[in-house]
Amino acid sequence: MLEIETLPVRQPSSVAYTEATRAVEEDEEIRRMTEEQLIEGINRLRKERNAVILAHNYQLPVIQDLADFVGDSLELSRQAAQTDADVIVFCGVHFMAETAAILCPDKKVLLPDLEAGCSLAASVTAEQVRRWKEKHPNAIVVAYINTTAEVKAEADYCCTSANAVKVVQSLPPDREILFLPDMFLGAYVQRMTGRRMYLWPGECHVHAGIRPEYIQGLFERYPDADLLLHPECGCISQCMYALAEGDLPADRTFIYSTSGMVRHARNSPTPTHLVATEVGILHRMRKEAPQKRFIPVKEDALCEYMKTITLPKVYRALRDMVYEVTVPEDIAARARRAIERMLAIV
Ligand code: 13P
Ligand code: SF4
Repeated sequence: MLEIETLPVRQPSSVAYTEATRAVEEDEEIRRMTEEQLIEGINRLRKERNAVILAHNYQLPVIQDLADFVGDSLELSRQAAQTDADVIVFCGVHFMAETAAILCPDKKVLLPDLEAGCSLAASVTAEQVRRWKEKHPNAIVVAYINTTAEVKAEADYCCTSANAVKVVQSLPPDREILFLPDMFLGAYVQRMTGRRMYLWPGECHVHAGIRPEYIQGLFERYPDADLLLHPECGCISQCMYALAEGDLPADRTFIYSTSGMVRHARNSPTPTHLVATEVGILHRMRKEAPQKRFIPVKEDALCEYMKTITLPKVYRALRDMVYEVTVPEDIAARARRAIERMLAIV
């Protein structure tokens, strides 16, 4: 049974001309610097500051190439938790930098553009979660990592796309589950676990746009390809149904987190991969498996929030130590509990 809540969700907003964009455009020093000089400057400053640069798989190629570590949300949280650097420059979006700040309260976490948001994280507020919990007082709340710190503070467990199934499987079987905010990921987890779950009606505008019609006919055009799907995709329920019906080949269709996709690309003997997620990941796949072909299922699946992080902004972040992301300790303590429970499971 799929039970999707009908509470209102906020509409995704797009990224306008941000303060950080204006700041780098008006900065005399940065305006004169070439790409090589910016990279040299970043390399010098990261040593001076004892900083580590973490980048999500959707970041611009130039950012991925200079990062100390590139990964999915789970790997980035683990890297943040383990680092002995004094400064973490988070090349990703705001909720990721917040997660790092929650896990490392004694470190400086910098986000090069404060307006690198996330339409999915914006689809639910802490107040809405509190009201939802009142309607289901015995339920366990599982929050996807794509949420604000305030929302995580209301949750019992956190999860990412890499471990959502395992987290839900670990919960006592007699308890109802409130899963938020991604309804496509929630429907996938529900189908995989058979658990009774209520789903928040949130979505990522990029992945929701990868609808079933983008999958139709793919295997006729590319009969030897593997299809790699992110569970946030708007086509995920229909793909699961098609898999169960034998309308999609079970030995060629895979549902993964972004780093799961990269591992598959590296290790699978298949020469062609159809990739259903944000297109920034293609850079990493092509770099790690240059002899293989990677075809985006939707060419314009592009997250404008991820792309607000640019080379001049990373340089400015390290030079001026901006923008520091902090979380008040009372909220951080409650959010940390949910994240650490997740990290203990997987
Ligand atoms: P993962 O990298 O954890 O799979 O998440 C994808 C995503 O949408 C991050 O914004
Ligand atoms: Fe958020 Fe979607 Fe962008 Fe990921 S791709 S950061 S879920 S808006």
